[in-house]
Amino acid sequence: MSDPLLFTQKKIGNLILPNRILMAPMTRSRTTQPGDIPNQLMAKYYAQRASAGLIISEATQISCQGKGYSFTPGIYTASQVAGWKEITHAVHQKGGRIFCQLWHVGRMSHSTFHEDGQPVAPSALAPDAQVWVVNEKGVGEMVDCPTPRALATQEIQSIVEDYVHAAENAMMAGFNGVEIHAGNGYLIDQFLRRSSNQRHDQYGGSKENRIRFAVEVITAISQAIGPEKVGIRLAPFITQRGMQDEEAIDTILLAAEHFNRLGIAYVHLAEADWDDAPVVTESFRQALRRKFHGAIIVAGNYEPEQAEALIEQGLVDFVAFGRKFISNPDLVYRLIHQLPLSPINPDAPLFGGSEQGYTDYADFQQLRAKGAI
Ligand SMILES: Cc1cc2nc3c(=O)[nH]c(=O)nc-3n(C[C@H](O)[C@H](O)[C@H](O)COP(=O)(O)O)c2cc1C
Repeated sequence: MSDPLLFTQKKIGNLILPNRILMAPMTRSRTTQPGDIPNQLMAKYYAQRASAGLIISEATQISCQGKGYSFTPGIYTASQVAGWKEITHAVHQKGGRIFCQLWHVGRMSHSTFHEDGQPVAPSALAPDAQVWVVNEKGVGEMVDCPTPRALATQEIQSIVEDYVHAAENAMMAGFNGVEIHAGNGYLIDQFLRRSSNQRHDQYGGSKENRIRFAVEVITAISQAIGPEKVGIRLAPFITQRGMQDEEAIDTILLAAEHFNRLGIAYVHLAEADWDDAPVVTESFRQALRRKFHGAIIVAGNYEPEQAEALIEQGLVDFVAFGRKFISNPDLVYRLIHQLPLSPINPDAPLFGGSEQGYTDYADFQQLRAKGAI
C-alpha cells in the first residue's frame, strides 16, 4: 500500500482520530461479580489497545432488564460507573479514545436474569437463538432464549429513559461518546424488523413505525449529551436469530435519513462475518453515503487491503477490526510496519476467565525482545 489512508487522521464528531483503524466492540465477559462491575483487568486490556483510532467498548447493558449474558458489564449503577472511570482513565493516559457501546438485548436473554423470569421484546416471539449463561456451579453454557413478553406501549418510554440515563452515566465515567447497539438481533433491531416486530401500535407495522423506537432513542440521547458524541451500530445483513426481513435494507436506509437529520457522529455497519454471508453491494454503500453525511464505519472480517480500498473509493471512513485486536494489542503498529499478526489462542476463553487469552497477548516488540519472533 503506498501512503495508505488507513494511517491518516480523520474527524468523527468533534474528535480527531489519528488513524482509521478502530477496535470493534467485543464482549469478553470478565466483570467483577456480583454487580457486573468493570475492573482493573479490563482497564489493562483496553489500555493495551489504546493506539486504535477509537476503541468501542464491549456491549454494556443500560439496565438490569437489558441484560442477556453472564458477566457482561452494566452502566446503570454507581459501582459500574466507578469501574468504567478507571478504564477510560487508563485509555486516556495511553493517549487513546473510547466510546461506550450501549446495549439492551431485548429477547436475546434468559429467565435467570429477570425477576419475573421473562425477557422483554416488541412481540412475544422467541428468537431461535442462545445466550451464554453461567450456571450455579460456575460453568458457562449456551442456553435457549425463552419466549419473551411483549412490551406494553407505555413501557417503551421508560426504556428510552434508561438509554438516556446510561448515556449520561457514560459521560460521567469519562467516555468520549456512546455507540447505540442497534444490530445483531438485539432490542432496537427487534423493533426494526417485520419478523420480530408484529405490533399494532405506533411502534409496529410500517417502516416508519418500526424505526420509531430507534429514532426516539437516538433523539433523546443526542439531546442529553450532544449528537456529536453519538454513533449507532446496525447490522442490515444479519438473518440468523430470527432476523430475516426482506425490507431490512430499506428500513435501515430510512432510519439513516433520520440519523442524518439529527447530526450524529457515525453509522457503524456490522457486516456479515460468517462464511456464506451476502456480499455488501456498492449500491447499498452509495445509498448510505447519500442519506447519511456523518462518518461511516464498517466491520466484518476485513483485511487491511480491503479496508484501504473502500476508504480510497470514498465509500467508508473507518474500518473496525475485532478478532485481530484480540491477539494483536498493537495492531496499528503492526499494520503500519507490515509485521506479521499473532493468531488467537484457541485454548483460551473468549468469554469469561481472567488474563489468559485477554491481557496476555504481547506487542510485537515484546515478542521480538523475548526471541519469540
Ligand atoms: C468475542 C467477540 C465478541 C463480540 N461482541 C460484540 C459486542 O459486544 N457488540 C457488537 O456489536 N459486536 C460484537 N462482536 C462483533 C464484532 O464487533 C465484529 O463485528 C466481528 O467480530 C467482525 O469483525 P472481525 O472479523 O474483525 O472480528 C463480537 C465479536 C467477537 C469475536
